[in-house]
Amino acid sequence: MFRKKWLMAILFIATLVISLIIGNLTTNETVAQNSGRKLIMVTSADYPPYEFRKTGGGAGGEIIGFDVDIAKYITRELGYELEIKDTDFSGIIPALQSGRANFAMAGMTPTPERQKNVDFSDIYYEAKNTIVTKKGANLTTLASLAGKKVGVQLGSTQEKFAKEKIKGAKIVALNKTGDLIQEIKSNRINAAIIEDTIAKGFIANNPTLEFNTVPSSAEEAGSAIAFPKGSPLVQPFNKVLQQMKQNGEIEALVKKWFENQGGNQAAEDPANAPSSFETAWGSIPFIAQGIIVTLQFTLISAFFGFLWGIVLALFKISTVKPLNLFAKGYTSVFRGTPLLLQIALVYYATPQLTGYDIPALLAGVITFTLNSGAYISETIRGGILAVDKGQREAALSLGVPYQPMMKDIILPQAVKNILPSLVNESIALLKDSSLVSTIGVVDVLRRAQIVGAEKYIYFEPLLVAGLIYYVLVMLLTWGGSKLERRLQRSA
Ligand code: ARG
Repeated sequence: MFRKKWLMAILFIATLVISLIIGNLTTNETVAQNSGRKLIMVTSADYPPYEFRKTGGGAGGEIIGFDVDIAKYITRELGYELEIKDTDFSGIIPALQSGRANFAMAGMTPTPERQKNVDFSDIYYEAKNTIVTKKGANLTTLASLAGKKVGVQLGSTQEKFAKEKIKGAKIVALNKTGDLIQEIKSNRINAAIIEDTIAKGFIANNPTLEFNTVPSSAEEAGSAIAFPKGSPLVQPFNKVLQQMKQNGEIEALVKKWFENQGGNQAAEDPANAPSSFETAWGSIPFIAQGIIVTLQFTLISAFFGFLWGIVLALFKISTVKPLNLFAKGYTSVFRGTPLLLQIALVYYATPQLTGYDIPALLAGVITFTLNSGAYISETIRGGILAVDKGQREAALSLGVPYQPMMKDIILPQAVKNILPSLVNESIALLKDSSLVSTIGVVDVLRRAQIVGAEKYIYFEPLLVAGLIYYVLVMLLTWGGSKLERRLQRSA
């Protein structure tokens, strides 16, 4: 009775898991596979109004902005369909080099170093660098920044600009432009170097800040489209850009996106602007949609991690020396290195080593399965050792062979005893799943960050995400204790 139920449950979960995997993990296309007339553009949608995600009012987080409109115009003009992929800014050039995209638009400046790795179109928009500070800080010129703490976006041209142009400043490089604003507000840095178009939006939404433009050239803050080296698309793209400059299309888009900024995010008049909590509130549906990804991810990894953990545990108690050594070495490696590092390795090293462009979600599932297998194997080993020795002796003296003894007598008892630990492990998995946001999986945490970037707010969306995780963990705990009670009864 007890065993049949188990079998059914495992079969059910297995079917579910496998269909989820087939449905979700394999939907990945590289440029080479994509047939017909479609171009893939890669961007870093953290840079309003160039590119950002629209999340409020029922929007599903589509990427919109100045760059997106230009890309749509050009591809339509050339007779292509357009698909947009999102990544961190530092992931853009690698995406072009590995053939994950045909071109990139991300408010990207054609610097000499970048030109060694990718080709650029003509410049389509010239911006200026500005100094963003608290109102009245009186830091309006580059010279006034000497000896101050100055923030920049990591890997951006502003980082280079600040290093070259500001004498004696302490440069602080952070991942996202929004982080810089937050650091100014908390007085951790005195100023940040940010492009004027971006600065405008932030100032409109943060009335305690101001910005002052500093002299900079087009090479320092102009934007161009990037292509893989030797791409045949550069010429046709330049042609359309030229045409857009002449027929006033670019100017119209500049008006649409750069003037009257913050217009769709917050009212110009601070008194009419919604509070940041109201703003975050409206984004809850968008953040909550990440629950599906988060749960899917946890379920699949927990399931395979459990199976793999059983295998490793059997290896560990086995009398076959090599199996024994393998399982021990394996566990020590996976427990001895940070999970975040393992994820990055699997995601970035796989395409380089094997040529397979592994989708982020799959990379995450594999890493989590391998990692949690290591932990679970120890738990299971403990569970097996805790089963009364007499059981084993009785089975052996009755002539029950090793395999059925393990499968039918020892393991079911072991699993029952370690159920609380397994629930623990699943909870850890659920929360750690947020680490996949670093490789671009749009889970709960990543969605919260997207909202923050779009709405110019910081910790409110994170609080929403925290609440969601907490509720999920509570549900898991509740489910775990229900299962436990049921198993106790069926014993
Ligand atoms: N123009 C700067 C650069 O090329 C910053 C661009 C940042 N873009 C973004 N989508 N985050 O480095």
